[in-house]
Amino acid sequence: MSVLAQHLETFSSLASSNSQVLFATLTAFILYFHLDLFELHSRLIDVPTEELLEKYDFIVVGAGSAGAVVANRLSEEKDWKVLLLEAGRDETIISDVPIMAGFLQLSYFDWKYKTEPQGQACLAMKNGRCNWPRGKVLGGSSVLNYMLYLRGNKKDYDIWESLGNPGWGYKDALHYFKKSEDNQNPYLAKTPYHSKGGFLTVSDASYQSPLLTSFIEAGKQLGYENRDLNGQFQSGFMVAQGTVRRGARCSTAKAFLRPIRLRKNLHVAMRSHVTRILIDPTTKIAFGVEFLRKGAIHRVKATKEVILSAGAINSPQILMMSGIGPKEDLEKHQIPVIQNLKVGHNLQDHVGLGGLTFLIEQEVSIQLIRLFTVQSFMKYAIGRGPLTIMGGVEGIAFVNTKYVNATEDYPDIQFHFISGSTHSDAGMQIKYAHGLTDTFYKKTFQSSLGKDAFCFLPVLLRPKSRGLIKLQSRNPSDPPLIYPNYFKDHFDMQTLIEGVKIGVALSATPAFKAYKSRFLPFPDCDHIPIHTDQYYECMIRLYSATIYHPVGTAKMGPYWDENAVVDPELRVYGIKNLRVIDASIMPTLVSANTNAPVIMIGEKGADILKAFWQERESTNASMRNALQNR
Ligand SMILES: Cc1cc2nc3c(=O)[nH]c(=O)nc-3n(C[C@H](O)[C@H](O)[C@H](O)COP(=O)(O)OP(=O)(O)OC[C@H]3O[C@@H](n4cnc5c(N)ncnc54)[C@H](O)[C@@H]3O)c2cc1C
Ligand SMILES: *[C@@H]1O[C@H](CO)[C@@H](O)[C@H](O)[C@H]1NC(C)=O
Ligand SMILES: *[C@@H]1O[C@H](CO)[C@@H](O)[C@H](O)[C@H]1NC(C)=O
Repeated sequence: MSVLAQHLETFSSLASSNSQVLFATLTAFILYFHLDLFELHSRLIDVPTEELLEKYDFIVVGAGSAGAVVANRLSEEKDWKVLLLEAGRDETIISDVPIMAGFLQLSYFDWKYKTEPQGQACLAMKNGRCNWPRGKVLGGSSVLNYMLYLRGNKKDYDIWESLGNPGWGYKDALHYFKKSEDNQNPYLAKTPYHSKGGFLTVSDASYQSPLLTSFIEAGKQLGYENRDLNGQFQSGFMVAQGTVRRGARCSTAKAFLRPIRLRKNLHVAMRSHVTRILIDPTTKIAFGVEFLRKGAIHRVKATKEVILSAGAINSPQILMMSGIGPKEDLEKHQIPVIQNLKVGHNLQDHVGLGGLTFLIEQEVSIQLIRLFTVQSFMKYAIGRGPLTIMGGVEGIAFVNTKYVNATEDYPDIQFHFISGSTHSDAGMQIKYAHGLTDTFYKKTFQSSLGKDAFCFLPVLLRPKSRGLIKLQSRNPSDPPLIYPNYFKDHFDMQTLIEGVKIGVALSATPAFKAYKSRFLPFPDCDHIPIHTDQYYECMIRLYSATIYHPVGTAKMGPYWDENAVVDPELRVYGIKNLRVIDASIMPTLVSANTNAPVIMIGEKGADILKAFWQERESTNASMRNALQNR
């Protein structure tokens, strides 16, 4: 019963009372069938403050997609003491249920960020601000995410390398993708692109609605192959692959931390909010961190290094609060400047058109209410059924607009195929998660409530626009200011419009016409002739949907790159013993969802660290030997 009480706290932080009821039902069910027994025994130990050491070899800040990997790999060295500090708490049995992914937003698992209004995008959202959820929980955003497993295009990494980052080309990236992976699909596992035996479970969707078959078929009718989009080629259509284990979410906490929870040299401290890195202003050596836990400030020392893995919004915030960042901005907040660097710049995100909806007559789409049956609960108990659908996304496609050369296999638009739409939860959660205004929601979706539908989410893969993250104040509990600058470069808009056109064309293929699919217009764009470029632009500016992939705010680059914050070994320029290892370091956004690429960065970053410190230690050892033998 105490478990239920713990979950009641989750419910009370949810957006609507209906979703609270939904959560309560699901929890009661999971507890009734004892689906949590295994989980309870494998939970991480949250080390109390009194038991923390005064100093560790390494301190990792943030237990998200990258931080969990780094903490695991560093603590493989038995002589190294590692502390992992995480602001959030542990996952729950509810965050494991794939179809509920969107419901975790705005709960206490979420930092609940919002962008600043920019006037050119997110116009259907309250005050013109888009919600930017980020995981505040052990496992970080890999607990909030939609679990889609994608790696991006080979060229993405070769471009990183060509920008002056040796060792970051596709060949190296592939090595680390495979190092983490435990692919459950025996066919894929045998190809040169996948592997078995890693910590991270990757599986194909275990449930497929009839609409998914149509999606793959529609792709063929437009001339695209059904293939592994993480393999040799990226253009094409496929059934979603996900970080899913036995039908449940496989976060990086579950994958990389639970199996090693008994390692003596790894301490994990939750609800520990790091406020700054301790840096000696004269030597510029990072020697520890300061954090807030249960209302008190604590300090811990790092004898080797501090590693920032707090994600693309919080890592720059912590750097700036520690005196590393744009000089003028820091001075404005009376923060003593230790190193003047372009922290917070180079922000890139994947933006798409939300709510590109097609109504159909048959009862084949996902409607949340229909899923809550004893039958689907029972199926979930064995890792099957519709509750295992990754946040409603069943299929993935990468397509080429007229702006790229299709034979070069560097697609510029991605589709997320959703066998439902914004209204398929009857207004319980998605409208809140997307921050839509009541007027827009009512006007656009009210008349479709209860109707079956599917949705394509076209996403602009390589935006030219660059955004910015700035401090709001020097108070660590004030969220930073986020300026995404969506569509600031008009080419981004032009490309996404082409993406919407491909989506509309897909809906008109025989595969989807079999459902008599009908385009759902946005009444707010009624003043523009429908199905013109201007009409699609109007839709995009209203329902600009982030796909939750902010990166680039502590850019990796060579010393001659004046925008670089970290070098190709991920060391912060000008500071000793401090690295950033997370989504912030991407020089350019990869052409796919970012979780697997960030896990790859964690793996590679950890290897760089190990090689660096092992070499130092062995040099010391041989010097000691030489001295003794003298
Ligand atoms: C709603 C959503 C859906 C997504 N869907 C997908 C998807 O389907 N597929 C995909 O590939 N990617 C997806 N992503 C993106 C992907 O999950 C992220 O890119 C990735 O998790 C980022 O990893 P990270 O390590 O950089 O940061 P995070 O995973 O966010 O980790 C940062 C960690 O640091 C902690 N932290 C931050 N500040 C502090 C502090 N001051 N003190 C202590 N701890 C701190 C945070 O609480 C968090 O645990 C999604 C993201 C979201 C939010
Ligand atoms: C497209 O790329 C291929 C392969 O690089 C090349 O042979 C072809 O000329 C290109 N086509 C156009 C129109 O640029
Ligand atoms: C190597 O030896 C020096 C001098 O004794 C010491 O200061 C340093 O901490 C040692 N480094 C490692 C990695 O053990």
